[in-house]
Amino acid sequence: MSKPVIIAVTNQKGGVGKTTTAINVAYYLAKCGKKTLLIDLDPQGNATSGLGVDKTKIEKSVIDLLVSDAKLADVAKKTKHKNLSLIPTTSHLANTEVELANLNNKFVRLKKGIDDGGGYDYIIIDSPPSLSLLTVNALIAASYVVLPVQAEFYAMEGLGQLLETMKLVRKGMNPTLELLGVLVTMLDSRTSLSKQVHDEIKKHFPGKVFETTIPRNIRLAEAPSHGLPIGAYERWSKGARAYKAATKELMTRVGD
Ligand SMILES: Nc1ncnc2c1ncn2[C@@H]1O[C@H](COP(=O)(O)OP(=O)(O)O)[C@@H](O)[C@H]1O
Ligand SMILES: [Mg+2]
Repeated sequence: MSKPVIIAVTNQKGGVGKTTTAINVAYYLAKCGKKTLLIDLDPQGNATSGLGVDKTKIEKSVIDLLVSDAKLADVAKKTKHKNLSLIPTTSHLANTEVELANLNNKFVRLKKGIDDGGGYDYIIIDSPPSLSLLTVNALIAASYVVLPVQAEFYAMEGLGQLLETMKLVRKGMNPTLELLGVLVTMLDSRTSLSKQVHDEIKKHFPGKVFETTIPRNIRLAEAPSHGLPIGAYERWSKGARAYKAATKELMTRVGD
């Protein structure tokens, strides 16, 4: 069985669209017939609740994978969406991170946990808004990074740190980690600033910026409160069409 394509959705800034991207890209990959696993690696658990899973009723979570050597198949749960499974999280993950720091192989716990691939075509990891041990675990486990960047004046601020961390990871435990693409999110096409930001980001990351941009769209903000990916909530909305197109582009970028 071939190995899954493992993609970490990362940016240490909060509120840039990581979770929205992780959920909706995972959904559309699954919709395209790809066996897809979404891993919620953020203690806030927004990807978990965004898929309609009650965080207080979780039996096995990503914590079991990280600290107690549980098997991938034991922690991954099928969702109601065809081909889409989830490894949920709970808020205890924040404490787990402290615990993790004292364990052997603390940087490769996630990689080891998902090593058998579970028969998935894609594994999408939603990461926390920090360059923490959890994020480093994601960067070491992944083959690619998708970097969502909010279309705003300060969009690029702080990205240097992430790129530096990626460089360190490449020098160390994951030499083949690759930036798959920068995805511009929450673009307000009515302002010229947005276009400027997109152009500016393209200048900084030649060839690495998704042609598809994600518009600011109220339906995308509403969908998580219904526990649904945008494609299952309002499939004809602008946000849905954008994430569908971004997912197609992502598949092309990984050569699928
Ligand atoms: N394109 C968008 N249009 C409108 N609201 C969005 C969009 N993308 C994300 N949001 C909303 O913005 C907030 C932050 O997005 P989120 O994906 O949770 O970011 P992060 O995971 O980086 O913190 C959430 O409330 C989300 O629903
Ligand atoms: Mg998030």
